[in-house]
Amino acid sequence: MNKIPFIPETAPFTPEQRLWLNGYLAGFYSDAGVADPSAAGSAAASAPPKPLVVLFGSQTGTAEGLAKKTAREAEKRGFAPKLVDLAKYETVDLTREPNVLVITSTYGDGDPPDNAQAFWNFLQSETAPALPNLNYSVLALGDTNYSAFCQFGKNCDERLEKLGAKRVHPRIDCDVDYEAPAKTWTEGVFAALTSAESASAGGATATSEVSTATAASEEPQGWSKKNPFPARLLANRLLNGVGSGKEVRHYEISLAGSGLSYEVGDALGVLPLNCTALVSDILTELGCDGEEAVHTPDGAETSLRLALAQHYDVTRPTAELLKAAASRGAAGGELAGLLDPARKDDLKKWLWGREVIDVIGGLAQPLAASELMPLLKKLQPRLYSISSSPKAHPEEVHLTVAAVRYDTFGRGRKGVCSTFLADRCTDTTPVPVFVQTSHGFRLPADGNVPVIMCGPGTGIAPFRAFLEERRATGARGGNWLFFGDQKRSTDFLYQEQLEAWVADGHLGRLDLAFSRDQEAKVYVQNRMLENAHELWSWLESGAHFYVCGDASRMAKDVDAALHQVAETSGGLSKEAAVEYIQKLKSEKRYQRDVY
Ligand SMILES: Cc1cc2nc3c(=O)[nH]c(=O)nc-3n(C[C@H](O)[C@H](O)[C@H](O)COP(=O)(O)OP(=O)(O)OC[C@H]3O[C@@H](n4cnc5c(N)ncnc54)[C@H](O)[C@@H]3O)c2cc1C
Ligand SMILES: Cc1cc2nc3c(=O)[nH]c(=O)nc-3n(C[C@H](O)[C@H](O)[C@H](O)COP(=O)(O)O)c2cc1C
Repeated sequence: MNKIPFIPETAPFTPEQRLWLNGYLAGFYSDAGVADPSAAGSAAASAPPKPLVVLFGSQTGTAEGLAKKTAREAEKRGFAPKLVDLAKYETVDLTREPNVLVITSTYGDGDPPDNAQAFWNFLQSETAPALPNLNYSVLALGDTNYSAFCQFGKNCDERLEKLGAKRVHPRIDCDVDYEAPAKTWTEGVFAALTSAESASAGGATATSEVSTATAASEEPQGWSKKNPFPARLLANRLLNGVGSGKEVRHYEISLAGSGLSYEVGDALGVLPLNCTALVSDILTELGCDGEEAVHTPDGAETSLRLALAQHYDVTRPTAELLKAAASRGAAGGELAGLLDPARKDDLKKWLWGREVIDVIGGLAQPLAASELMPLLKKLQPRLYSISSSPKAHPEEVHLTVAAVRYDTFGRGRKGVCSTFLADRCTDTTPVPVFVQTSHGFRLPADGNVPVIMCGPGTGIAPFRAFLEERRATGARGGNWLFFGDQKRSTDFLYQEQLEAWVADGHLGRLDLAFSRDQEAKVYVQNRMLENAHELWSWLESGAHFYVCGDASRMAKDVDAALHQVAETSGGLSKEAAVEYIQKLKSEKRYQRDVY
């Protein structure tokens, strides 16, 4: 039996490089039937590693991180994993691979993350090949707060099956707390792939013993989502002028002593604490003083007050809470009717502006704390696009955050994390943070390449970082920024810094769109269209195009404007414009950081 040379862990490669090389060697040796010279005379050679492709679709890095972890784990179980970004799906011939795992998130209305769009187009196309020899399984990442929960993972799973591939292990749909279900899936998948391979080989090899212990010590060490760094807040500055309808704040956070590093384009995860006044109101509603002993979601014992303040999401009602409240006559019986799946849209409307406190208030049979706690979810961190370059601000990270505040049903409401930063952090209250690497949002490696950045509102954040970085590295490529907001007089975020960069030529073009400064609303996409000819010539000269900010409308409008530019100034047909933009995406020249 040929032994495939394996790159040892001691070799001078990063774990990711090793995975790639092992996957490559496994493919090369199995395709070419090349005998490994070192195997000569080695009768006791162990079984060759089984080829396994781990494909990931990821926008903000979660699926990517999980895919890397799965690949590392696979390597230990005797597989030769090859980790593949779905943007590079063409490097994998699915008709020849025996085993594929797909780990992907969902965005928008059940859409793929950006890096998976081209793969999805290919999979749906008429030219998609039959895959009768492929064993596969899908792990879908999502968030139950979205109605199209894990929809893209579901779509991939169905489509692969339709193409004839064999689902060796059921898909798993993971909510924001994905670690435990993901671990269960991984164990199941490795066992299933091992037995599927034995079965198809007709061999009687015993299913390998699968260890369930993925020891914490095997995980990358350091500060992480699970173990955030208690950082010091250095500055909290309001960026809007008096009379603005917005409250956007600039934060400076010290990373000194953490060993944490980041690149421009990354996001910072912040794990907030809930508002103490809201926690007190919930305790009053429950008839508790807060000293009652309860458990955190991780099983540690604590007081009810601390659990509500630090560990549980006490604002967004879960489906389980809604059900329990409906059975106790919530909203005068109205809620029970709204839970009918046919009335999904009515329920969404009813929930708009309502929080846990509204759902548990005034129940005919009040919920006890012990009944409420299992109906709440774990408090989740929020992500923020980093707005600084580490080269300009060593050991610091800056954020640009809009505080969420609104009044509904007679109560003042506060977004958990944005007001934690605005109101509840001081220079002595730590901000628990971790760095969320975002490989899909990066400056071109070559500083001579021009960049076009479209970032209205808080979307400016990563572009302030990009501009600081390009200044620090002396990058010579052109910089063009589209920024917009409501009013120039109050909402021109980072005006001084941007105007200074314009004055000294670092920011070659700054196009502004203040929607409320004139009768007709003007947005960044209008400015793009006004400058279509020049925008097209920048794209044709190799510029990278970036967009950051609101996903629900702005990013869609900017995308439509980009297509229009390709048609009007590029002279392309509708179809050719779609192809052109798709190519920009697959070449990583059109990148989005939208939320
Ligand atoms: C990759 C990424 C990068 C991001 N970067 C940034 C950034 O740079 N800057 C930034 O400010 N944000 C950014 N965000 C958004 C950020 O993560 C949070 O979602 C945001 O700060 C709100 O969180 P919160 O905890 O304050 O509000 P939450 O407690 O999560 O409350 C928000 C919810 O309140 C409800 N709500 C809001 N307004 C109203 C209203 N008027 N009426 C009724 N209900 C309402 C909605 O249900 C909304 O979903 C980013 C998100 C992602 C995923
Ligand atoms: C703007 C935005 C839209 C999202 N849309 C959906 C959705 O439609 N369905 C879903 O299940 N999850 C949705 N999610 C949640 C993500 O899929 C989830 O957070 C996932 O873990 C992210 O993985 P990634 O970092 O690999 O992209 C959305 C998240 C964001 C920020």
